Amino acid sequence: MKRLSFSLNAHAQHFDTLIAPVFADGTLDQSVSDFQADLQDQVSQLVDSGDFSAKPGKTLLLVQTGTGPKRILLVGLGEAEKLSVKAYLSALKAAATAIENSGAQTALNLLAQVQPNGFDLPWAIRQNAQVFQQSCYDYAHESRGEHHAKDPKLNAMVFAAEANPTNEAAMTQGQATAIGMALTQDLANMPSNFCTPTHLANTAKELGSTYGFETHILDREEMIEMGMGSFMAVAQGSQTPPKMICLSYQGGSDEAPIALVGKGVTFDTGGISLKPGADMDEMKYDMGGAAAVLGVFKALGELKPKMNVVGVIPATENMPSGNAIKPGDVVTSLSGQTIEILNTDAEGRLILCDALTYTQQTYKPCKIVDMATLTGACIIALGHHVSGLMANDQTLADALIAAGQKTYDRVWQMPLGEEWDEQLKSNFADMANIGGRAGGSITAAQFLARFTKEVSWAHLDIAGTAWVSGANKGATGRPVPTIVQFLLDQIQ
Ligand code: BES
Ligand code: MN
Ligand code: ZN
Repeated sequence: MKRLSFSLNAHAQHFDTLIAPVFADGTLDQSVSDFQADLQDQVSQLVDSGDFSAKPGKTLLLVQTGTGPKRILLVGLGEAEKLSVKAYLSALKAAATAIENSGAQTALNLLAQVQPNGFDLPWAIRQNAQVFQQSCYDYAHESRGEHHAKDPKLNAMVFAAEANPTNEAAMTQGQATAIGMALTQDLANMPSNFCTPTHLANTAKELGSTYGFETHILDREEMIEMGMGSFMAVAQGSQTPPKMICLSYQGGSDEAPIALVGKGVTFDTGGISLKPGADMDEMKYDMGGAAAVLGVFKALGELKPKMNVVGVIPATENMPSGNAIKPGDVVTSLSGQTIEILNTDAEGRLILCDALTYTQQTYKPCKIVDMATLTGACIIALGHHVSGLMANDQTLADALIAAGQKTYDRVWQMPLGEEWDEQLKSNFADMANIGGRAGGSITAAQFLARFTKEVSWAHLDIAGTAWVSGANKGATGRPVPTIVQFLLDQIQ
């Protein structure tokens, strides 16, 4: 993906395109007059005549000869007082698409001068940097065929804001987030015959050598030897070697790290509890949590914040085979607790529980946040708009909710409690791996909670948010924005 060159302090810069915010009544944001004093009359006429509606999502490109910038992109923001975050972001995306379809190479972007109620200039700079950098992303793996890599004409974007450390940091964070998201998207879009556990491990090693992270990869024999009976039970049905992928970023002094754990099922067939055939291809994104961990690490590598973070990814396929686990099988997890596997399709929790135990034993983290495409039930409960959040520590949950509000990569908390935990009762082991259809996302989290009793822990169910189906089928890069924001918030 091409990296745009972002900068602040517009008066010092040359630009060939002006991106101008317009409100529903035809008024330009006042910042525009500093750069193009004579534009208001023309825009008022365009709005009055119905040639431009100035609604969020609408844009109009004016190409002019003579003095001033060659292009002016009018970007509708609707009614100023009613500008919501959702509408603002849809305007940014529409602007990015319009720029992409133009000859713009250097743009002065005045959209950041406008903010929805309750949000400030640095927020808007961050969102603009993120959206415009994201618009350069296209899935371009060799298996897609040629000519898919985007080749944007845009090189540089300038914001009309003071070049101070706050604005600078906002801009860098927005761009680093988009760069991290692109890695997450690439991995989740990649078919499972390419994106194997070994490929995820190699990606981690590459990030390690680029940015200086320590990496450590465990293979099947080591993990069997260590007693990861639950993770290895899922992996035993596949010929493709499983991996436990560990990365550590040391940006702080020797304080305990924050741990990110990501579900890395590179393909989920369901196993012997086989999934129906329709849309099964989408189960290549069942490593969306793992991809998010790697995307966040990419962003950390770019941003180098003063903190310590570890990433742990259990990666395997979930396959039916002559050697696969069967319903009713009982396995012993790394924690020593035994599990009756009543449904082999509830495999995410089986690999995560050993990863959570391993993370605590190895890194003694102060907090753990796991990310997993864990349950279809989460999509039924919340749709595709927010990730499910469950936590054993409300301060941690609140921090994730706040980060989600700031980035609009939102999360919604669901409860945990004994009642749901009781649904996991088994007659043949310490617990069953499913708790019935009712409250399916909560019982899945409740299962994980049994392995995180001694640590502050939060779980994000990203089944609904990591991917979009339909015509624009593909990975979204979520929840990278929220996790990056959450981590940076932990420093202040
Ligand atoms: N990977 C799936 C969850 C999923 C479903 C993610 C749809 C994204 C889209 C997970 O491993 C799974 O199969 N969960 C089961 C749990 C059930 C067997 C208790 C589910 O949601 O049906
Ligand atoms: Mn499954
Ligand atoms: Zn799964």
